[in-house]
Amino acid sequence: MKKRTIGMWIYQNGGGKEIENQLKNQLLEREINSITGVDLNKAIVSNGSILCDTYGNCNYDLKSSIDLFFSYNAGEQTPYQTYLYQALDKLMPTINNYEAFMLTEDKFQTSFLLKNNGIATADYEFFHKDNHLHLETIMDKWSSLVCKPLNGWGGKGLTKIDHNSDILLLKKSLEQLDLTKVYIEKLIDYDNTDYRVDIVDGNYIACYGRKAKKGDWKTNITSGGSIFLREPEDDVINLALKATKITGLEIAGVDILYDREKEQYVVLEVNGIPAFATQEQESLGLSFNDKKIQHIVELIDRKTSLNI
Ligand SMILES: Nc1ncnc2c1ncn2[C@@H]1O[C@H](COP(=O)(O)OP(=O)(O)O)[C@@H](O)[C@H]1O
Ligand SMILES: [Mg+2]
Repeated sequence: MKKRTIGMWIYQNGGGKEIENQLKNQLLEREINSITGVDLNKAIVSNGSILCDTYGNCNYDLKSSIDLFFSYNAGEQTPYQTYLYQALDKLMPTINNYEAFMLTEDKFQTSFLLKNNGIATADYEFFHKDNHLHLETIMDKWSSLVCKPLNGWGGKGLTKIDHNSDILLLKKSLEQLDLTKVYIEKLIDYDNTDYRVDIVDGNYIACYGRKAKKGDWKTNITSGGSIFLREPEDDVINLALKATKITGLEIAGVDILYDREKEQYVVLEVNGIPAFATQEQESLGLSFNDKKIQHIVELIDRKTSLNI
């Protein structure tokens, strides 16, 4: 078998460096080499070759030097990087595969696909920002709503609107948005806790809960939410597995809430770069990193074997 090499771009803060080392070592046990720091932000393309300078003086032609690209860095991702990710995906397997990755970067596209495949999600409406009439119709229909940027993360940019909100103010703020697309969800009646379910390669890896801080409605850690240990029911795991399969993601973190009004679990979001547990979270008992790494290594091994 030809010697295999993969390229990785993994976040380095919050324990990412250690995760990268573990992946590298376990891949080496399977005789798979790794080139780390393959940051497509630094790449140039010369005719058909994507050249990436990972260490300051060594230019790799990615097509001839790696067999697979593993991208796992939510924080530093730029449009330039994802643009080249799209090109690279044409040459070799990427994890996550580009199509599924881009799908789940967009909240409307994800909800649309999930809803049309029988998965319970938040109720939503999508329309052009100049369509004020539709906005008024929605405000009549739902007493509380959440306006979301299509590709936000960490709870950033979410606006909660309730019946006390001033519709004129809302119209004005929509006018100021650069975006033409408006994505609005009905506010789900839930207990301000969620389930984060980690899936790799069709396998259930782990589940934990997140709880919004007192007086807040967002569970994101960046919005002050906290993590707690949570045993999921089979329904929650199966919902996460199904949603992941529909998106096509190899690695996913599925956010699930229990809708008290509809009395059912709903998929709120599918994340393509779900974080590994930090050391601090591991000390709380979140011990899934080893299992997650093991399944990612198996996945990389399989994908690179198919390619030879
Ligand atoms: N429709 C909704 N109803 C109730 N809470 C919501 C709704 N949408 C989002 N939230 C809360 O806001 C948080 C962030 O929303 P999410 O869609 O996951 O965006 P992000 O990508 O920023 O994490 C969720 O974890 C949840 O706590
Ligand atoms: Mg989320």
